Amino acid sequence: MIHLGVNVDHIATLRQARRTYEPDPVWAAALAELGGADGITIHLREDRRHIQDRDLRVLRETTAVKLNLEMACSEEIAAIALAVKPDQATLVPERREEITTEGGLDVAGQLARVTDFVKKLQDAGISVSLFIDPDLAQVDAAVKTGAVAVELHTGQYANSSGKVQQQELQQLRKASHEVLQRGLKLHAGHGLTYRNVQPVAAIPGMEELNIGHSIVARAVLVGMVQAVREMKDLMVWAASHPEHFH
Ligand code: PXP
Repeated sequence: MIHLGVNVDHIATLRQARRTYEPDPVWAAALAELGGADGITIHLREDRRHIQDRDLRVLRETTAVKLNLEMACSEEIAAIALAVKPDQATLVPERREEITTEGGLDVAGQLARVTDFVKKLQDAGISVSLFIDPDLAQVDAAVKTGAVAVELHTGQYANSSGKVQQQELQQLRKASHEVLQRGLKLHAGHGLTYRNVQPVAAIPGMEELNIGHSIVARAVLVGMVQAVREMKDLMVWAASHPEHFH
C-alpha cells in the first residue's frame, strides 16, 4: 500500500517565528500518526531555520512510524544522523538562501561524494533515499550510489498547469518506470497538494509520498474555528468573573 510521510517542518517554522515552544513539531507528529501517517519527515537544515536538533532527538524517541530525515550531504548533519539514527535519510540539495528545496540533488554531477554519504549512512543501518529530478541520467547515477530508494521531485509537476503539467506527469511516469526497472524503491514529493496528489499517487509502484506544506496549511485552517472559540470562551468567562483575578 502507498505510504504517506508527513513533513512537519512548517510547524517548526511557526514556532521559530517567535522563538517559543509552540507549536511543537513533536506534538504535530503524534497527531499526524493518529491521523494515519505512515512516516514523519523532517529536514534538519544547516541553518536550523525550522527543525532543531532537539526535535530530531525527541522525535527519534517518540515516533513509532518511519522517521525520515531529509539532509544535505554535510559532514555535520551526517554525524548527527549517525548518532540519532533515523530509519531513513533522504539526501537533498541545500542552498542557504533558498525558500525551500529547489531542484533535485545532482547525483550524476557528484557521484563519488554522494556514494560516500550513502555508504556511511547505510552501513549504520539507515536506508538512504536520493531526492532527484525525474531525469533518467539521475536515476542511473542513483543506482550507482547503492542507495535503496529515490524520491522523485514533483515540484515541476506541481508548479505547472494544463499541457505542461501533463508533460511533467509523463516525465514522472517514465522516470518511475526506470526506477522500478533498476530495482530501487520509488518515492515522490514536493509541492503536492489536495488538488494535484492523485495522479502521482496513481503511478504504478509508488511506495511513499512526502507531503508537508499543504497538510500544515490545511491543519492551520481547519483548526481555526475551534482555536478562536476556545480563546473567546476564556476571555468572556474571565471578564464576567473578575473576582477570580483580583
Ligand atoms: N520531499 C523533499 C525531499 C523535500 O525537501 C520537501 C520539502 O521539505 C518535501 C518532500 C515536502 O514538500 P512540501 O512541503 O512542498 O509538501
